[in-house]
Amino acid sequence: MNILRELRRRFAEALGAIVDDPGPLLDLIRPAQDARFGDYQANCAMPLAKRLHQSARDVAESLVARLRVGDLCDRPEVTERGFINMRLRDDWLDGWLRGASADPRVAIEPTASPRAFVIDYSSPNVAKPMHVGHIRSTVIGDAIRHILAFLGHTIVSDNHLGDWGTQFGMIIYGYKHFLDRRAYEKHRVDELGRLYKLVNQLAEYHELKERLPKAESDLARMDAQRADLAARVETLAGPERKKVAKDADRLDAKIKEAREEIGRIRARLAAVDDDPVKRALAREHPAIGERVLEETARLHEGDAGNRRLWAEFLPDCRLELAKAYQRLGIRFDYELGESFYHDFLGKVVAEFESRGLARTSEGATCVFLDGFETPMIVRKSDGAFLYATTDLATIQYRMATWHPDAVLYVVDSRQSEHFAKLFAAARLWGYDSVELRHVSFGTVLGEDGKPYKTREGDAVSLASLLDEAVARAYRVVCTVDDAKPSGRELSDEQRRRVAEVVGIGAIKYRDLSHNRTSDYVFSFDKMLELDGNTSAYLQYAFARVHAIFARGGIERPLPAGTERSADAGPPFPTVEERALAMALARFHETLDDVTIDYRPNMLTTYLYELAGHFSRFYTNPQCKVLKAETAELREQRLRLCDVAGRTIGQGLRLLGIQTVDQM
Ligand code: ARG
Repeated sequence: MNILRELRRRFAEALGAIVDDPGPLLDLIRPAQDARFGDYQANCAMPLAKRLHQSARDVAESLVARLRVGDLCDRPEVTERGFINMRLRDDWLDGWLRGASADPRVAIEPTASPRAFVIDYSSPNVAKPMHVGHIRSTVIGDAIRHILAFLGHTIVSDNHLGDWGTQFGMIIYGYKHFLDRRAYEKHRVDELGRLYKLVNQLAEYHELKERLPKAESDLARMDAQRADLAARVETLAGPERKKVAKDADRLDAKIKEAREEIGRIRARLAAVDDDPVKRALAREHPAIGERVLEETARLHEGDAGNRRLWAEFLPDCRLELAKAYQRLGIRFDYELGESFYHDFLGKVVAEFESRGLARTSEGATCVFLDGFETPMIVRKSDGAFLYATTDLATIQYRMATWHPDAVLYVVDSRQSEHFAKLFAAARLWGYDSVELRHVSFGTVLGEDGKPYKTREGDAVSLASLLDEAVARAYRVVCTVDDAKPSGRELSDEQRRRVAEVVGIGAIKYRDLSHNRTSDYVFSFDKMLELDGNTSAYLQYAFARVHAIFARGGIERPLPAGTERSADAGPPFPTVEERALAMALARFHETLDDVTIDYRPNMLTTYLYELAGHFSRFYTNPQCKVLKAETAELREQRLRLCDVAGRTIGQGLRLLGIQTVDQM
């Protein structure tokens, strides 16, 4: 049961007798900040007091008089200022705990109003190796999928692979000019990856070469301005001087940025210039950028040679991705890439045109949308279709095939503008009842606060990231195992298996534990801390629970247990036991909260706090479990351990993270 929702439902009834629209007031019923005042608190009397010309306290009292919560809570308490504090009844909480212990779903019933979701996530551009930037979409999308499915919604997960874009033009060009046939025969994807990088580097080289003079002259201009300001400052005094000094500071920041940018450009150019082979290639392929676009266009137009190459490359590229997904434990219901929609694109544009939704502007076919400065281009003047055109065709296909109530796009926040326009165009097209949502996320940063890259300036490959995390996890696992009071418990094979689970879990958890809309700093050390908000800490708590049952030789699921005897003391004699039970009972509320704005970090925060409650309970000398004072207490504490362990395990699984019984 989602307790908060149930309380709000009861309040809605009570409020209904006092106001016409209780809806907005219900948000003022929340979990209590401070457990000493109860479990939940309602602050809805204050705004009503003004409206009803009564004191908040009187309004609260009359609300409580109408409220029917006796089965759930002790009598609500009204404070001087009109807050209503509620504390769940101990016998209710005890009954809940017994139910949860007997239920594989830890007392979370599926929703009564299931919706159908399509979730578009991961969606990398194939033909380039997967890198750190792909983690976020993959991991966040997968967590949302698990959570929605667990709550009883219907999910179609669809990996919208970029298997049709310029990157294929690049490898086709590379294949035609730079192929190392023997390397290709030995390991295709590696050679394709090399070709991609090489072509990309050469194309970028020419582009940067063209950009550098302007960047340099801009900098020179700013330097001159700066010298001017410096001279002027000397002649001024008072507020004038201050103002000019401020301008100078602002200019300094810009100059610094421009210098850094020029530094980066020079470094990228030097990487080619300092390498005789690459320098020669760059000279032999001066128009490589345009040639790549031509190869891409030929592929799209159906050129037999390019289509054959594409069909030759694709399976290997996909196999490479499949390996990464397998290691991450991620699978998709569908992987309909951009190429799948190619044949629909002409029809989509024609439909927009014939219904008067698109018109030609400067040769391009454009959809003009209210509230946007620039239109959405669906066909370029040279006839080429765009990313946006494919996305429109994709919406049409998904709606016709799966009839979803909602489509979630788990994609980088840099694409917000694209999605805002796409959704507006889709509504114009008639898809106005489906919820289209861009579930956006920020960038993964290095310790220097800039997007996470290797020292050479390349994106860090996903495989190397996972390897490194697992290698470090192995060291942590060994340290923990070696330090056990009665000596090491794990064989080396076990240690390696645990390290894989801990290492991969750490990467996923670190990502999920951040508010998805903010950027975050990637740090191996932080993600593997054993006593922080990390998956290793939670996995460790899970294993600890397992150890209790192993030590006591107790099988799970636990038997239903004995009825509480009449002379038994309170079900939760210590603060720690009750706090743990209460935290467990709020799992459902947490999962529902995650789905309001698709924020998995609400689940990580919950699990971290839950593990804290468990630890305070378990380390309290008054809460002995296996050696509890009475059989009844022992049974109850085992139930707490059982539900705590299973909630942590379930929570991690919903985040796509595995657990191990022993660590
Ligand atoms: N392949 C795209 C990229 O790497 C992301 C695709 C997201 N999904 C979509 N339907 N547009 O930027």
